[in-house]
Amino acid sequence: MAKVAFLGLGVMGYPMAGHLAARGHEVTVYNRTAAKAEVWVAQHGGRAAATPAQAAAGAEFVMACVGNDDDLRAVCTGAEGAFAGMAEGAVFVDHTTVSAAVTREMHEAAATAGIGFVDAPVSGGQAGAENGQLVVMCGGAQASYDRAEPVIASYAKACRRLGDSGAGQLTKMVNQICIAGLVQGLAEALHFAEKAGLDGRAVVEVIGGGAAGSWQMMNRYESMIEDRFDFGFAVDWMRKDLGICLATANETGASLPVTALVDQFYKDVQKLGGGRWDTSSLIARLRAMG
Ligand SMILES: NC(=O)c1ccc[n+]([C@@H]2O[C@H](COP(=O)([O-])OP(=O)(O)OC[C@H]3O[C@@H](n4cnc5c(N)ncnc54)[C@H](OP(=O)(O)O)[C@@H]3O)[C@@H](O)[C@H]2O)c1
Repeated sequence: MAKVAFLGLGVMGYPMAGHLAARGHEVTVYNRTAAKAEVWVAQHGGRAAATPAQAAAGAEFVMACVGNDDDLRAVCTGAEGAFAGMAEGAVFVDHTTVSAAVTREMHEAAATAGIGFVDAPVSGGQAGAENGQLVVMCGGAQASYDRAEPVIASYAKACRRLGDSGAGQLTKMVNQICIAGLVQGLAEALHFAEKAGLDGRAVVEVIGGGAAGSWQMMNRYESMIEDRFDFGFAVDWMRKDLGICLATANETGASLPVTALVDQFYKDVQKLGGGRWDTSSLIARLRAMG
């Protein structure tokens, strides 16, 4: 069992850190809003630290799941960031969805301090984090990955290294590009069924096992029909991810017309007050349009 620090106890981080404790790892948590860390400790044991550096002191592995590029910089290299507290030879594992550019920047800074850095964004959503069934896409040095993989396994059903630093984040971009068009298609389909007077649940029961079936369909159709979005993967985060995808496509020359359009649809959802709604709220935009 390892000494592990976990930084960021949000929708994803809170249950992920819980799985580490359940596996018997010695876990120290840090959360910007300290009250959440106290609640976590009351539920799972372990310790709470006041700063990322304090949480990271003496840890063999430091896992993070925060918000965006700037948040990652803050918890890694900020004044009280984790790198300052980590010992040489320790490994930082970043589960945040961020750009490949900031990943390589942090990888360099870590290497200078003798620390390993693995980019390890996740897919599987809130339910995947709670059930310990995430898919984890990794980049970084093989040796760092090999050490971290058994710890990541505490909350993963699949974990794979896809290349050097940044390869995990690039793979996550592919994942988000797939999801953007798919969720808009699902929203249009359920909206169409509603307008046509069909029973949406019965429709999904029939077509869900066929060629149109998807994780999004089976895990989101009920809440979409019920117009319920106060859970899951926030629209604000999806726009952050799509922004990263579109910027990267500009650099590589890839063409992402549908992704760009769906990004604008999510902007409409934000205007409806849905920044924290689950990404399946694209159907709320269609309903708002009548
Ligand atoms: N939710 C999903 O389904 C899902 C799925 C896959 C990937 N992701 C990605 O995973 C990451 C986290 O998502 P989430 O849904 O767990 O978000 P969340 O619920 O908003 O949690 C974000 C966490 O990061 C902390 N944080 C943010 N900025 C920080 C900073 N500058 N310094 C220190 N801590 C900071 C927050 O602390 P406070 O408590 O103080 O706000 C909170 O603990 C995002 O990059 C997201 O894109 C999410």
